Amino acid sequence: MSTARTTLQRTTVDDIITRAGDHEHVLTVEDLTVAFTRRKRRIEAVRGVSFALTAGRTLVLLGESGSGKSVTARAILRLYGRSAAVGGSVRLGDTELTTLEESWMRGIRGGAIGMVPQDPSGSLDPLRRVASQIVEVLARHDVEQDARRARAFGAGLLERVGIHDPDRVLDAFPFELSGGMRQRVAIAIAIACRPRVLIADEPTTALDVTVQAQVLELFTELQQELDMALLLVTHDVGVARIVGDDVAVMYAGRLVETGRVDQVLAQPGHPYTAGLLDALPTPGIPRGELLAIPGRPPGPDELMQEHMCAFAPRCRFAQPACESHRPPLVEVRPAQAAACDLVEPLALRPRGTVRPAASGSAGRTRPAGSLSQGGVR
Ligand SMILES: Nc1ncnc2c1ncn2[C@@H]1O[C@H](COP(=O)(O)OP(=O)(O)O)[C@@H](O)[C@H]1O
Ligand code: SF4
Ligand SMILES: [Mg+2]
Repeated sequence: MSTARTTLQRTTVDDIITRAGDHEHVLTVEDLTVAFTRRKRRIEAVRGVSFALTAGRTLVLLGESGSGKSVTARAILRLYGRSAAVGGSVRLGDTELTTLEESWMRGIRGGAIGMVPQDPSGSLDPLRRVASQIVEVLARHDVEQDARRARAFGAGLLERVGIHDPDRVLDAFPFELSGGMRQRVAIAIAIACRPRVLIADEPTTALDVTVQAQVLELFTELQQELDMALLLVTHDVGVARIVGDDVAVMYAGRLVETGRVDQVLAQPGHPYTAGLLDALPTPGIPRGELLAIPGRPPGPDELMQEHMCAFAPRCRFAQPACESHRPPLVEVRPAQAAACDLVEPLALRPRGTVRPAASGSAGRTRPAGSLSQGGVR
């Protein structure tokens, strides 16, 4: 590629990134659909998902395993290439990413939009020392081309993510580091170019509890420092409670509830969200009394009638009408929307108050829940 072309590309990508900062919503996802083809069958993993990310705020994408969270995250970065049919719109500021030229997209990926995966082994090259992986990212995004200065820059990044002996870590191979260290390195690489948006897909799931808490705190600090919009994907309501400003609850490829974390977790508007809260380990409630949601979510390749509520087979409020009716996401309170219009929101228990009678849990009270080890996978 000629230097002129590279410079033009760089300028264009820089311009896109700069303009993104001028928008209230730095990233807007509208009516996103992602479908795969498996054995000649169309598998719809994401079905019409919309949300927007704001600088300095964290949106938690919450849901059980298989609900389509990772597919959504990966589709934003266009990581599927031709292996999936992606519809809808993903805009960084005012730039449409779904149709952006791939060479420019490479400047966006890891530049304007950073990604931290669940398992850092997925993003770190096992055969290369940490230093060379950081130096490469800095060079690719034109942050620092000089290898010695890039190494020094990398050491600073590692210190920023809480690594006290950066030189040792720079010279290490990923397998020589603990899981927590590897995740910190992955975070350092993801923020190396000061992204506008950081996507973290289950970033603490593989870590033990103490390290989980430290890494979540690190995310919050970095987000404020860099004024990033953070999209945090998790199956764990406890993680949502700690780091989230806003939450989008996902079920069977769709969003079933959206709103501010404090409001949604205190007064869920959808039976699925209420079910996730019921399954959360809570002080004073023995594990055996937790109310797990019965059954399991439908896989995207299971035949699912478009005209019914996908949660109906597991919903303790289900009525015959739910088999022939799929409620859209509508406002249930200011700034809170839910895709269920058949349940009185009061029946979904404001937390800490007495729940009206419902099968198996009548009148039980419980204090606000703690942090969980118990997710909802
Ligand atoms: N590349 C793929 N090809 C076919 N199906 C996929 C692919 N990636 C994910 N899926 C399916 O899409 C569904 C949603 O997956 P995913 O987004 O990974 O769920 P999660 O919410 O746990 O992150 C899963 O049932 C998964 O099997
Ligand atoms: S529409 Fe029916 S099945 Fe779906 S969440 Fe509401 S009550 Fe439950
Ligand atoms: Mg996932």
